[in-house]
Amino acid sequence: MSDRIANAKLRGKIMTADEAAEFVNHGDKVGISGFTGAGYPKVLPGAIAEKAKAAHAKGDEFMIDLFTGASTADDCDGTLAEADAIRFRTPYQSDPILRSKINDGTTYYADYHLSESGMYVSEGFFGQMNVAIVEAVRITEEGHIVPSSSIGNNVEYLDEAEKIIIEVNSWQSENLEGMADVYRVGKLPNRKPIPITDPGQRIGTTYIDIDVDKVVAVVETNHPDRNAPFKPVDDVSKKIAANFLDFLEGEVRAGRLSYDKYIMQSGVGNVPNAVMSGLLDSKFENIKAYTEVIQDGMVDLIDSGKMTVASATSFSLSPEYANKMNAEASKYAKTIILRPQQVSNHPEVVRRIGLIATNGMVECDIYGNVNSTNVMGSRMMNGVGGSADFTRNAHISSFITQSEAKGGDISAIVPFVSHVDHTEQDVKVIITEYGYADLRGLAPRQRARKIIELSHPDYRPILEDYYDRALHYAKENKVMQTPHLLEEALSFHQRFVSTGSMKK
Ligand code: COA
Repeated sequence: MSDRIANAKLRGKIMTADEAAEFVNHGDKVGISGFTGAGYPKVLPGAIAEKAKAAHAKGDEFMIDLFTGASTADDCDGTLAEADAIRFRTPYQSDPILRSKINDGTTYYADYHLSESGMYVSEGFFGQMNVAIVEAVRITEEGHIVPSSSIGNNVEYLDEAEKIIIEVNSWQSENLEGMADVYRVGKLPNRKPIPITDPGQRIGTTYIDIDVDKVVAVVETNHPDRNAPFKPVDDVSKKIAANFLDFLEGEVRAGRLSYDKYIMQSGVGNVPNAVMSGLLDSKFENIKAYTEVIQDGMVDLIDSGKMTVASATSFSLSPEYANKMNAEASKYAKTIILRPQQVSNHPEVVRRIGLIATNGMVECDIYGNVNSTNVMGSRMMNGVGGSADFTRNAHISSFITQSEAKGGDISAIVPFVSHVDHTEQDVKVIITEYGYADLRGLAPRQRARKIIELSHPDYRPILEDYYDRALHYAKENKVMQTPHLLEEALSFHQRFVSTGSMKK
């Protein structure tokens, strides 16, 4: 019997994953731990998927509504989606199989701001939560849960669900204990200000206290976290990183930023991860992160001594870096704080500490609206995640992208975005391998040419042609605020759908 389960009552609840899955029924609202490939339950999803398949084989219905911190991994979201076991999913995902089930209509997907999703659960917007399934490093004598490599919405699911299942994963280093800073934001109308004025402050406990009587099962596991490796940092990413640094240097020259103690938020994805590598050789020192995920690039900044504190809700590490984090968790616990996502992404704190937000995007338009989620207006990629939590409230919000996607058939800069996640009011800086456009203080017509200059040379002439003609029409018709040719505003997307390329 595992020495990681110190509470006698909960030791009596140890069972297999298949036995524990019997507590999950068709139609249940199931809230699980997990944020990217970190800290998600490793064996219950597979057992629930098998239960779904067996029910479907008999002609019975079996689907659950699945709530997480954010995305998980193939042996969680992927396995459940493959078994057609997910009816509704929120608030973020990135698994290819689940993505295809969302896009073919099998699964309803509600794409929510990550800072708000836990609040919605606590306030009952989704109805009664039935089961919480949460991964732990260990269970204390009092029955408290020591969370593993992500915190996400664990607190809200454990507080609100009728039944709790705990997976105690002995792959996760016991030295992760101490990284968590668990703080309850509280329910309305009694919410108090969150007392964080610096990313390094601890305001809560290192464990999650739970109602032990709600625990129906404890399952022992020994499985690694599973994230995909990042794409290698290529020449294009290096140029984007250099342009991002140029922008930061400009802020220093303008007296709005110092080389000492720059506070960053860095989004998910290959491009934001690559941009962090650019900071390694920069003049910036004592960098702090108030962010959502800790990616490989941030671990490199910590190792180099450039970063002194990283506050997040989860790791999002390649397999190599996840093993390193596990092996050296006690060293990293001095620098890293993991918080509930309602705190890591909280607009109140983000606005107060004045960070610079940097997120990836699918596309932006010539006036600065950004689409982070829906390819060609309709096909869900991942979700908005925490990008808007930070973008709306940051001191400066920046978006980074390669100028083209899919081998050059898609331009990241289009006349009009096919879906809006971040409006022109929120987007302050756009960066590609061709430079950066600082949009602060500019009206739409003052922004358009600057943004077009960031596009790939293959697309620049057709964007300029669109803007010139839109401007001409707008002058004649006295509609000059945001010139558009409505019948052509989505013509790049239409061309891609019809011909496979946005190029003319
Ligand atoms: N149209 C179609 N596909 C596009 C695209 C576009 N305009 N831009 C990028 N893509 C595709 C790429 O081709 C790639 O596909 P692949 O995996 O099949 O190769 C994929 O999106 C990832 O693109 P990449 O260039 O490697 O960028 P990334 O890994 O930095 O991800 C986003 C970009 C937009 C998908 C990612 O940043 C995201 O999901 N953002 C929303 C959530 C977010 O910002 N969270 C931050 C919270 S802190």
